[in-house]
Amino acid sequence: MVKLTGLKKIKTAVFISGTGSNLKNLIRFSKIKNSPISIDLIFSNTVKAKGLIFSNQFNIKKYISSFKDSKITEAKILSLLNKENINFICLAGFMKILSKSFIKKFSGKIINIHPSLLPKYKGLDTHIKAIQNKDKVAGCTVHFVSAKLDSGKIILQKEVKISEKDTPTSLAEKVLRQEHKLYPAAIKKIFS
Ligand code: GRF
Repeated sequence: MVKLTGLKKIKTAVFISGTGSNLKNLIRFSKIKNSPISIDLIFSNTVKAKGLIFSNQFNIKKYISSFKDSKITEAKILSLLNKENINFICLAGFMKILSKSFIKKFSGKIINIHPSLLPKYKGLDTHIKAIQNKDKVAGCTVHFVSAKLDSGKIILQKEVKISEKDTPTSLAEKVLRQEHKLYPAAIKKIFS
């Protein structure tokens, strides 16, 4: 793993597909003096990602490309990361699956946040599944990205109690609030 040397922050890209609340939260975190990362690139696979507004708002470069031809898109991303000296990637609501070869090139340097207590509920609709199964707890996980979906080494997890009144929407809100604490904590853990 890359270690933080001196006062230099590790240049980081955040990959999104949607709202970008985790992106916004990571940008805020990156601006704290003791944060190990700076955010230097936002990548989205869709122009529709609301989180792209944070590019203008915080003056961070953005790159948008659909994954229609994923090989070309990934090659372009890699060359951009190289050009910008970016050494770390945070996936935050990124809905595309990166190829094995891309992940290998950034091995140990790509992390993801997932809205469940992995290995429970990989993939989509985690909150619906937790409620349907009458689980008492849900939660979120930050993990390294490996070639297998939502299966890489776990960095940190946080549990959230499910109440009888919870709906998938209310549970998603509760979990998201914890995600915003967990993602920075996991990054601190990696680089400490
Ligand atoms: C989060 O729940 C995250 O765990 C999941 O997608 C959602 C993204 O939310 N991977 P946001 O775009 O960061 O608001």
